[in-house]
Amino acid sequence: MLLEFDRKSLMGVPADMLAVFAAQQPGESGEARDATAAPLADAVAAGRDLGIDLAEELSAVRFTGDLGAIARIPTRGKAKSKLLMVVGMGPRDSIDTAAVRKAAGACARNALKDSTLAIAIPGDLGLDQALVAQTVTEGAGLGGYAYTRYRTKASELPSLEKISLLPGEGAEEAAVRRGVKLGEQLVRATVLARDLVNTPPADKRPPALAQHVNDLLHDLGIKVTVMDEVDLEKGGFGGIVGVGRGSTQPPRLVELRYEPAGAKGHVVLVGKGITFDSGGLSLKTSDGMSTMKSDMAGAAAIVGAMSVLRELSVRVNVTGLLALAENMPSGTATRVSDVLTMRGGKTVEVMNTDAEGRLVLGDALAYGVEQNPDAIINVATLTGAQVVALGNDIAAIMGTDEALLDEVRAAATNAGEKVWPLPLPKEYAEHLKSEVADMKNIGRPMQAGTIIGGLFLKEFVGSTPWVHMDIAGPSFTTEGDAFLNAKGGTGFGVRTLLRFLVDRSF
Ligand code: BES
Ligand code: MN
Ligand code: ZN
Repeated sequence: MLLEFDRKSLMGVPADMLAVFAAQQPGESGEARDATAAPLADAVAAGRDLGIDLAEELSAVRFTGDLGAIARIPTRGKAKSKLLMVVGMGPRDSIDTAAVRKAAGACARNALKDSTLAIAIPGDLGLDQALVAQTVTEGAGLGGYAYTRYRTKASELPSLEKISLLPGEGAEEAAVRRGVKLGEQLVRATVLARDLVNTPPADKRPPALAQHVNDLLHDLGIKVTVMDEVDLEKGGFGGIVGVGRGSTQPPRLVELRYEPAGAKGHVVLVGKGITFDSGGLSLKTSDGMSTMKSDMAGAAAIVGAMSVLRELSVRVNVTGLLALAENMPSGTATRVSDVLTMRGGKTVEVMNTDAEGRLVLGDALAYGVEQNPDAIINVATLTGAQVVALGNDIAAIMGTDEALLDEVRAAATNAGEKVWPLPLPKEYAEHLKSEVADMKNIGRPMQAGTIIGGLFLKEFVGSTPWVHMDIAGPSFTTEGDAFLNAKGGTGFGVRTLLRFLVDRSF
């Protein structure tokens, strides 16, 4: 689907659907039931050009401008577009970028059965114009996303091919053009991550995924090196080898390098890339593995983000490390109580083969810090406990460096992704003590599962400033929502990483 800036007039744009926005005006009593829609400037102008009293039409169809609510109004030959869509942004005084993004998302989701959609970017929100344009573009692109690769019935396919973004009343063209461009890049990066997550696990087993990532990134300013099972064995990557051992296809460690001229510092990004997590011999239930093609969402977020670094003129050296393995049960699989020797020499007793993410990440983190970066950030669908603690909307972050944690939090906030910190109390490191090895890979039943995952990883980062993002909940949705997320991969993390890297570039 194409997202493009277009400077045509609202009435003159030849789209199937023309979208404008309306705020919500609370009623006298302050009750939602007597709220009314307050059309924004583009909606007012459209009403005037169509020769109708738009506020009255909206009230007649009981449209009150709730966030994401939609009203469709025929243009009766007065505009090139047959239908005007009015999209609610919620109460006037609570319209922020998050509301703008959601409203634009709802707009695109409601136009999936059209071929072309034109959206007027409001210039009268009192927010930065480029930011509004970026956010509308993000929302529209994400809301208009559908994963169609394996669908064969044309009738079930969304038909939305193009979304045109027009500068609305009072919007400054140059700022809008800039915002649309950035928004489009962020969408493209996020969509790439979503596509990778949504791909069926048989079609992204580690060797194939490594090859695919190489094909995607090698023309985008990224140098790709793939370590195969022999390299991994020789390099002492016992965690990655141990997790991959049960599969008929070997694991991979993919190293992505972005080295721009005039770079300021070096950041390493590490992604969990379990292409399917059956649990291994500690087998999950069928239900438990139903979403486990998404266990490579951390790696996917890094691929998505790195695909646009050059376009965004990021001026930081970035190394991406994707720890790819398929966690399967078999006669060759790692057994419960086997001991693995990790990169760097630490030994780990595997007391649950389903706690595999920390095993592949421990190796990759140890390898990453060998490069002496200024910061190392890992992104991982690490624990079911993360979903228990924070639900599906909010990722957990943990780390060893308060300044870096603050930086990641700020980046997430600015990117419109929710994260919340958890502590890494050293007292809990006890839980990882093993009788036979340096540590084991699980803690105590029902106790601080997400924190224990973080404490395990901490053993591999030495003194390098480090942040761990546990995205188990927000990376995938079985429910979808009416705004930005279709069912499936969400691309969570892509925009936080990009914002973080862009902020470090200047
Ligand atoms: N990939 C899972 C975590 C997960 C669960 C992600 C649900 C998304 C949704 C991870 O490998 C796992 O299985 N973790 C175990 C750890 C436990 C054995 C210590 C878990 O959370 O149960
Ligand atoms: Mn697991
Ligand atoms: Zn897993």
